[in-house]
Amino acid sequence: MPRKTERIRNHHKGIVKSLKAIVRRADTLTSRPGAAVRKALTGDIEFLRNDLTPHAEGEERGLYPEADKLIRKYGRPTATMSREHVHLKKEIATYCRFAQRIAAAKGPVPAATRTAFWKSAVRLEFLLSVHLEEEEEDLLPFFDKYLSQKEVNAVIEKMHGH
Ligand SMILES: [Fe+2]
Ligand SMILES: [Fe+2]
Repeated sequence: MPRKTERIRNHHKGIVKSLKAIVRRADTLTSRPGAAVRKALTGDIEFLRNDLTPHAEGEERGLYPEADKLIRKYGRPTATMSREHVHLKKEIATYCRFAQRIAAAKGPVPAATRTAFWKSAVRLEFLLSVHLEEEEEDLLPFFDKYLSQKEVNAVIEKMHGH
């Protein structure tokens, strides 16, 4: 039986497909893009502005208020943060793989490797900076406001395992 949220999931599948196409176009862009590519870029702008942005706004309006209630009752509010840790570890692994390869290179580093390395650095920096912002803006204020310094210190000690 299909899940009740299948419509949202299917919409997301469409978004992922469009995003993959956007990345592919950026990856393969030449110095003189042809008419087809220019047309596709216009389509990408249209998609991002008129499909993806309203999608996010619709979620803020409809999905998130309900999600807040459900998660408060049945879920774990920091599940999304933990999921980001999983993805951060993957991005770290990718970056380190390229960095190691470049650090150990005997001859010149091929352009494709340099591009892939650059991409991994940008992805890692982006995800990590968003993640840190979430922790600092959405989690830590609660600790500042509702815990004593002693309680915060106990949390920090637990984090560092000593
Ligand atoms: Fe969404
Ligand atoms: Fe974290």
